[in-house]
Amino acid sequence: MKTKAIIYISYHHKNTIKLLESSFEKEEYDFYNLAKTKEDILLDKYEKIVFASGIYFGKMDKRILQFVDKNLTKLLTKKIYIVITAGINPKHYARKTIKYFNKLSFNDIKIFSCLGHDSYGPLKLIGGINKKRPNEKDVFKLKEFILENKI
Ligand SMILES: Cc1cc2nc3c(=O)[nH]c(=O)nc-3n(C[C@H](O)[C@H](O)[C@H](O)COP(=O)(O)O)c2cc1C
Repeated sequence: MKTKAIIYISYHHKNTIKLLESSFEKEEYDFYNLAKTKEDILLDKYEKIVFASGIYFGKMDKRILQFVDKNLTKLLTKKIYIVITAGINPKHYARKTIKYFNKLSFNDIKIFSCLGHDSYGPLKLIGGINKKRPNEKDVFKLKEFILENKI
């Protein structure tokens, strides 16, 4: 039985899921795409949970945030980690996301952030930015983050 879950939303260029799949050992984690998962996710069996998504309009996907809100009591008893990808300044969104989770009383959140290919809105006209991100270096860094934090 797996005791670790990754709950994600990734739809723009699948940047986030590509990064996750290249970095986390598939055998160790249950992956849930929150955009598709119909059944309730049974959180009781998980000790560690990674929430992951792109940044959309300044935040993680709202379905992730709603899920956290809905399951707050249970989630506060678990080790929570976050992975985000963003079109610009991922560190800024990392700080913002940490603040958001701190306000919900998650006091020991670890977050990984990196750039992701972004062609939303007018960026499409120029073919997007960060076309090759996440890249191998991002995967390497995330693998280090996983090891350091014993995820
Ligand atoms: C609707 C939408 C809104 C976005 N808003 C932001 C934003 O506010 N800030 C930012 O840095 N990037 C923004 N982006 C870019 C995404 O965060 C970036 O492309 C991310 O890597 C997408 O992840 P995904 O491919 O896993 O969905 C936005 C992209 C979309 C499609």
